[in-house]
Amino acid sequence: MNYEILFASNNKHKLQEVRQILSPYGITVYGLGDVILDITEPEENGQNYYENALIKANHYKNFTSLPIIADDSGLEVVALNNIPGLNSARFAKECGGHSFAMQKIISDLQDKDDRSARFICEIVAVNIEEKSLRFTGIVEGSITEKIEGENGFGYDPIFYCLDANKTYAELSEAEKNIYSHRAKALRKFITFLQIKGLARLKKVDHHHEH
Ligand code: IMP
Repeated sequence: MNYEILFASNNKHKLQEVRQILSPYGITVYGLGDVILDITEPEENGQNYYENALIKANHYKNFTSLPIIADDSGLEVVALNNIPGLNSARFAKECGGHSFAMQKIISDLQDKDDRSARFICEIVAVNIEEKSLRFTGIVEGSITEKIEGENGFGYDPIFYCLDANKTYAELSEAEKNIYSHRAKALRKFITFLQIKGLARLKKVDHHHEH
């Protein structure tokens, strides 16, 4: 069984995570570059992650009949009024990159007792059912006092994941793909596809496949 979908994002790191999470279930994931060339990105002017994911999914629907999933995600730091949140990508850009953005968050938290934070991922799927489908993943954690770990991308080195007892950046790819907000949302998507008979019921470990 092989089910093909388009992951509507230009973020290479996200694409790699989505591929790794879905491929054991017989799902081939294409990136925008594989399927749609030279298409402008939509303006992400939604009020929340869900609306932004829906905007992205619906935009690319104009260009392909493949099933599409779009992801919108962000980091919310509770003591800083949940910033950078919806603006996580923009905040990093404005700070001059994720390293500076992480330093800024660490220094803004210096005199705060509450270091709690969460990562949120909203996945919207279209071109599967008549209506769009929504899958949410939330992971609770806290902001570290300094950068810890070298794996992953974005804010991974300052996000200490409570379930994993490590920062996202200290996790291997395979481990992050067990604990992350994106993994949680995608597991709900996999369950949906399994119920529909579109995904393998059992995960296949490709390392043992000949
Ligand atoms: P989006 O592409 O508009 O959803 O923006 C997502 C932004 O949130 C990214 O550019 C990162 O700054 C941050 N982000 C989302 N998911 C992750 C993650 O898994 N690790 C680290 N940063 C993330």
